[in-house]
Amino acid sequence: SDNGYDLWLKYQKIENKALLNTYKNTLNSISFTGNTATLNAAKEEIVRGLSGLLNHEYTISKAVASTNALIIATKEHIDSQFTEQLKNDFTQLKKNGFIIKSITKKNRKYTIITSNDELGVLYGVFNFLRLIQTHKSINDLHIVDAPTIDIRLLNHWDNLDRTVERGYAGESIWNWHKLPDFIDQRYIDYARANASIGINGTVLTNVNSNALILTPQYMEKVTALANVFRPYGIKVYLTARFSAPIEIGGLSTADPLHKEVQQWWNDKAKEIYSQIPDFGGFLVKANSEGQPGPQNYGRNHVDGAKMLATAVAPYGGIVMWRAFVYSEHDTDDRAKQAYTEFVPFDGQFPDNVIIQVKNGAIDFQPREPFHPMFGAMPKTNVMMEFQITQEYLGFSTHLVFLPKLYQEVLSSDTYVKGKGTTVANVIDGSLHTKKITAMAGVANIGSDFNWTGHPFAQANWYGFGRLAWNPHLSAKEIADEWLRSTFSNKDEFVEPMTDLLINSRETVVNYMTPLGLHHIMDTNHHYGPGPWVSNLSRPEWNPVYYHKADSLGIGFNRSTDGSNAVSQYSKELKTIYNNLESCPEELLLWFHHVPWNYKLKNGDTLWNNMALTYQKGVNEVAQMEATWKMMEPYVDNQRFQEVNMLLKIQLKEANWWKNACMLYFQQYANLPFPNGMEKPT
Ligand code: GCU
Repeated sequence: SDNGYDLWLKYQKIENKALLNTYKNTLNSISFTGNTATLNAAKEEIVRGLSGLLNHEYTISKAVASTNALIIATKEHIDSQFTEQLKNDFTQLKKNGFIIKSITKKNRKYTIITSNDELGVLYGVFNFLRLIQTHKSINDLHIVDAPTIDIRLLNHWDNLDRTVERGYAGESIWNWHKLPDFIDQRYIDYARANASIGINGTVLTNVNSNALILTPQYMEKVTALANVFRPYGIKVYLTARFSAPIEIGGLSTADPLHKEVQQWWNDKAKEIYSQIPDFGGFLVKANSEGQPGPQNYGRNHVDGAKMLATAVAPYGGIVMWRAFVYSEHDTDDRAKQAYTEFVPFDGQFPDNVIIQVKNGAIDFQPREPFHPMFGAMPKTNVMMEFQITQEYLGFSTHLVFLPKLYQEVLSSDTYVKGKGTTVANVIDGSLHTKKITAMAGVANIGSDFNWTGHPFAQANWYGFGRLAWNPHLSAKEIADEWLRSTFSNKDEFVEPMTDLLINSRETVVNYMTPLGLHHIMDTNHHYGPGPWVSNLSRPEWNPVYYHKADSLGIGFNRSTDGSNAVSQYSKELKTIYNNLESCPEELLLWFHHVPWNYKLKNGDTLWNNMALTYQKGVNEVAQMEATWKMMEPYVDNQRFQEVNMLLKIQLKEANWWKNACMLYFQQYANLPFPNGMEKPT
């Protein structure tokens, strides 16, 4: 039975004989040059992968066989007989990119995987294995590929006591107690999995965690992890608690303009880099949700970020300064606060600072319009923060394929430089030339057997990595790759399941927060409906603050006669969002307070549309369950049963959402449930 530990790196033997033989013929022998940590990782992976997939024992040698050889080396070690054929490809090749090329010479066939650098070779190997895992032809390959975004990293919200904030897959995989001397095999497999999708950084600790991680006792452990990850091209980053100089440094202040405080951080950086020369840098949550920050001392975000950036700059480190800020003092519209607080500082942050912005202005909702900060800070490095863990999306119980959400955000048009300037263009630095580009995903990884709890939540980790590598990839392509590598290549499986994955995102929107509703999950845990909650100490924590249902209608008026959040978008988008008629219906209640009887484009009222959309969401989950039942022949029994049970829960809870929300909102709408909506019982 398969417990899912191997993720998308299963390398199962290819059952189709003809296909197997074609691959075997093309890959008669492997020539591999190089003997460094990274190249050895590449070597081990190609042997492991091909031995599994082709069920064949490979021995590796430097020598190039006369024909049908797979040749793997960096540019400088590629046999000179191929130099001419690779010349043009090498001129195009960007950092950490790779070339995979079929070359025929005098009727002899070779397949070459090469790069200017060692990490590119490793990425090339994983890419080549993916081709075989997904049963692609390898007869006439000519791939030149490289990451579009510089820094592609996971954010672990892991605490030192091994609890994981918003983690639903068991405890933290970092076993701080046994580190540094005990290296769990999981750390190596974690690095392999991440490298296979191009992830090159990891923030080990929670944005809310304390300063202990920066003490020598913990730095030793962090160093051990950094040593494990280094061959796989993965750099370690840490969260820097702003008050660390007080908490672990014995100072009486953390004021960023205070000389002693600056010196403390400079010394700390020096100490870290003496142990981890390639340490990536710091991630900071400051003056957000009660975390300390420069504002505690009357200073601003630039002052705070500058101090830390100065400390790590001599070593090439960066500071990721989060823009997830909102204060209880300015509650007219939480969605506006980050933009208001940050955009005036455009151009003032040092070059090694990047502002980390969540995909939407509220908080990882099933659907939000993209954050208006994207495109609004042309002179500042700005990066994307997605959530891979499903805080507001059914934890690791509901099946939701998030790459569809990521793709929607990335392909959103900002209109910042006219039509067709997407969020992806902001993130990849092409819109305004940027010094650093980055994308972070809040990890869904834990110590569960299968890493992510729900077997399908692995797809969200996978898809995040693929999109960080290339934000222009399509969710469909990603679903197809992942399904084939993880489960089966049979068309009868891949086709219906690709549809299921792609539709699953809209389904969750339908049964949780249709038509632009948001943040109506129950308090604190954010699981299940709680639109009625109104008694929390901070107004913007209460769901009623977001849906504003009353006898007239429902929705948050963010138009020019409301909170005016629409004005944070470009002129074109502002007009689109501002007018009820042109506002996309899926964002209607995000931007407008709409009368219950308002007619939507299909001619039916808002109230009826809400009811029927909730119902649609429920029906779609029932359909997912039915589709999955038919997949039994293609998947192992353990995962088949697990997903079966999970979909049953999802169906039950989709109904719970529908019934709870419709009964609650009915008190305000005072209208009957339409035909077509199953009445709550
Ligand atoms: C959300 C989440 C918190 C988290 C915060 C953040 O509010 O519920 O657990 O700390 O986001 O991103 O900082």
